[in-house]
Amino acid sequence: MTRRIGIIGGSGLYEIDGLEDKEWRQVGTPWGAPSDALLFGRLGEAELVFLPRHGRGHRLSPSGINYRANIDALKRSGVTDIISVSACGSFREELAPGDFVVVDQFIDRTFAREKSFFGNGMVAHVSMAHPVCGRLGDMLETAARAEGITVHRGGTYLVMEGPQFSSLAESNLYRQWGCDVIGMTNMPEAKLAREAEICYATVAMVTDYDCWHPDHEHVEVESVIRVLVGNAVKARGLVARAAPELARHDGACPRGCNHVLDTALITAPDA
Ligand code: ADE
Repeated sequence: MTRRIGIIGGSGLYEIDGLEDKEWRQVGTPWGAPSDALLFGRLGEAELVFLPRHGRGHRLSPSGINYRANIDALKRSGVTDIISVSACGSFREELAPGDFVVVDQFIDRTFAREKSFFGNGMVAHVSMAHPVCGRLGDMLETAARAEGITVHRGGTYLVMEGPQFSSLAESNLYRQWGCDVIGMTNMPEAKLAREAEICYATVAMVTDYDCWHPDHEHVEVESVIRVLVGNAVKARGLVARAAPELARHDGACPRGCNHVLDTALITAPDA
């Protein structure tokens, strides 16, 4: 199986440097329109498809993103692996603004989004025990270290609905739950990627300490944007290093991401 790598770019990441033979293409889906056209191109041997999650010009709020259309458009484009790049807040002193976290767990607190491709006559229950592809996570960690990025491996990403940031009580509660970072976009993205049998991993780029931190009473948009711009530069380096490495790995995912439906609990339409 030839690998094709999908990059979902979050706040600050709207393009990929050094792409050859690049072309923006509209990709339609039965679920509606994705966030934007998809940018197809090559980085050395690696075939890439880039999708700006919020659309170019950051037009879509986290709740306004059509996550099903985004994942389906990538699947239709032959994507086997998704690197999701997202800005996040930190719940731990040692996860500082500017650091990257290759998370391995999510807590989904979103409530106003379509979360499954199944339903209405055909139900499927896929496992989300390990929502991140371990192989993809390994490669992202290695690539980040090689780029000199301060990267932390593992961590729980709490996904909130937004668009407002958390209250102090919420921030403290999520810390008590053992969460490490917080953001607004990686769910239901990870669930849908699993249903679509696509390997998925997140690079969460810390922009702030959320509001629990005694020295940071509020999330300040100005400083978030300053950190975000620096993070985007590092993310471009990370993608440029990780994608060709990943493309070298032909064959099925050793963690089984690309045949999860074989073992999912499924009700056939005529059952
Ligand atoms: N994205 C970046 N910082 C965040 C925060 N503190 N909370 C939620 N989403 C974020």
